[in-house]
Amino acid sequence: MKISVIGAGNVGASTCYLLIAKEICSEVVLLDINRQVAQGKAIDMMQASITLGAKTSIKTTHDYQDIENSGIVVITAGVPRKEGMSREDLLHINIKIMEEVVLNIKKYAPNSIVIVVSNPLDIMNYAAFKLSGFGKNRVIGMGGILDSARMAYAISKRVDTKEIKALVIGTHSEHMVPLLSQSFVYNQALKDVFDEKTCGEIIQETKNGGAQIVKFLQTSAYYAPAASICTLVEAILNDTKSLLPCSAWLEGEYNASSVSIGVPVVVGRNGIEKVFELPLTKEETKSFKESVNSLSDSLAVVDKYLQNTNY
Ligand code: APR
Repeated sequence: MKISVIGAGNVGASTCYLLIAKEICSEVVLLDINRQVAQGKAIDMMQASITLGAKTSIKTTHDYQDIENSGIVVITAGVPRKEGMSREDLLHINIKIMEEVVLNIKKYAPNSIVIVVSNPLDIMNYAAFKLSGFGKNRVIGMGGILDSARMAYAISKRVDTKEIKALVIGTHSEHMVPLLSQSFVYNQALKDVFDEKTCGEIIQETKNGGAQIVKFLQTSAYYAPAASICTLVEAILNDTKSLLPCSAWLEGEYNASSVSIGVPVVVGRNGIEKVFELPLTKEETKSFKESVNSLSDSLAVVDKYLQNTNY
């Protein structure tokens, strides 16, 4: 299978490197408007793959024709969030980039499954879904896998085991909903493992996970995002039917409609094969509703843009 990664920045290049190092697919195409950067990174990776004995080939390009016949296209193109910049600040810049990318995917890889990573994630996934006209199973936003990893990390600092499951739904933003009722240590729900104060701290650290990295690096994270993208890609390629939290187009599930937001979905060779409805507590249901509502202003901006550009 050929996989294309749009955007050869920190997230795109790290994703590309994991895809080749793990030999997940036969060919990776790395596309960026800045061809030199893509080329430089790809040469470095190809030299690494010789040492690793990896067989996946890499092609760098700025020509969308090269993504032809890709089975999966990962969109990481965009402007990353800087300290003090909200994800919503990025909206106006990134929607134009998304339009250009999605129209080219539609043209050159019309049968692909699209994984959206660019922020603001749920809004960009909504835009990609609308711009592409693809079925809702084929446009997947990668946010919840990363947020859940951040929650698992916060838990791992407090227990002496790796038997941890964490689940975060809702928007990939400060309005995310870390689920205490669906996160476990040794199969025990978090609220039975920790006291209320510690549970609150875990939620706070999860929500702050991305911003903390931005504060240190002056740019957003890339290793964990790349690992989360690879998890999603492997679930599709190996048809694992894994339950993964992803931004998905909803039609009534979790009492939400006409939005894309993080929910647990079953991922297999067809992309999102099912939205999985887990029982939430009253408090979690309320937080999820607030999370959905937090999208409305940005969605109105996207809708207006799409209307003005005749989509
Ligand atoms: N077409 C192709 N590539 C583009 C375009 C475009 N129209 N516009 C920008 N790019 C490229 C840039 O040249 C850059 O190489 O996208 C890349 C973005 O890389 P970085 O700035 O390093 O950003 P990164 O940290 O990789 O994050 C990318 O993922 O997690 C999200 O918030 C993050 O939206 C951001 C995206």
